[in-house]
Amino acid sequence: MIVLVDLLLMLIDLTGSILSAILQTFLRPRLKCIDGELCLITGAGGALGRLFALEFAKEGAHLVLWDCNAAANEQTARLVRELGVRVHTYTVDLSKRRNIYETANRVRAEVGHVSIMVNNAGVVAGRRLLDCPDELLERTLLVNCHALFWMTKAFLPRMKEQNHGHIVTVASALGLFSTACDYCASKFGAVGFHESLTHELIAEDLNGIKTTLVCPYIVDTGMFAGCEIRKELRSIIPPLEPLYTVQQSMKAILAEQQMICIPRLMYIPFLLLNLFKCILKVRNSCPSSHFPKLPIVDQIGAFAGPIKPLGPYA
Ligand SMILES: NC(=O)c1ccc[n+]([C@@H]2O[C@H](COP(=O)([O-])OP(=O)(O)OC[C@H]3O[C@@H](n4cnc5c(N)ncnc54)[C@H](O)[C@@H]3O)[C@@H](O)[C@H]2O)c1
Repeated sequence: MIVLVDLLLMLIDLTGSILSAILQTFLRPRLKCIDGELCLITGAGGALGRLFALEFAKEGAHLVLWDCNAAANEQTARLVRELGVRVHTYTVDLSKRRNIYETANRVRAEVGHVSIMVNNAGVVAGRRLLDCPDELLERTLLVNCHALFWMTKAFLPRMKEQNHGHIVTVASALGLFSTACDYCASKFGAVGFHESLTHELIAEDLNGIKTTLVCPYIVDTGMFAGCEIRKELRSIIPPLEPLYTVQQSMKAILAEQQMICIPRLMYIPFLLLNLFKCILKVRNSCPSSHFPKLPIVDQIGAFAGPIKPLGPYA
């Protein structure tokens, strides 16, 4: 009997959520004010990180910028200062847990309580599994996935005390369906991390702490330079403009949306793939010939752009 009541309640809840999601698609969401909040952005010296910094600054947030590339990070800080906001830069290697915790302690002591955290830094090895040096594979997982845990462990406790905060995870459409093994594994991990963190916060009734997962398709920043987009897709969805990507992400963050795929078209393969997997699971058979073909790129082997020297954080 209790199971039936539970099931009924769950169905009512589910129907409510679907109706509210449909309504929100047509209504203009109310955007929150982040004036005076302290926002930490990782990978702030990079293409999307810099644009995020500028957009958060325009909204009146004070900034803490993290990157392992000190010069690029300082350049972002200079641009942001011109907008008249307070900004602090830190050179951090996100592949090193101790470095993250030590820098987080410095931020707390020198600047204060971070209430918005944008986990944006990311790397990709861009080689096939057997051609990729172990160190590169490991680095992708450390920066794109493990760092999310350490960042959150460092800054969530204070957010919990105040039941106030926002944690943004910049993953990728490649965290929803696979293409490049190191990158996808790390971004699948990021998606799973975001989902479980969100559930944990809801279960603890911490409704003042929001989470947003950002899943862009390929963005024209150079990260995927040389990557061949499937011919059929190239004309329908060309690479995204960085500014458009960040502006769409900002709207989702300020609307406290839990997830955004950019462009919206990306929701379709995501939903279809999940449906397809469900059907296969139900039929209890998944012969490899039935597995969906790589949805975005033809050849990860032809993908030469993003491989950067390991640098000081190797
Ligand atoms: N460019 C795309 O096509 C695309 C698509 C989907 C998602 N994304 C994601 O968006 C985010 C930003 O991508 P981008 O295109 O701006 O890349 P980018 O290479 O321009 O910027 C990444 C930044 O992260 C920093 N970084 C790398 N390793 C670090 C480390 N160990 N410690 C500290 N900082 C480190 C780099 O110095 C760089 O400034 C990434 O997480 C990426 O995976 C990018």
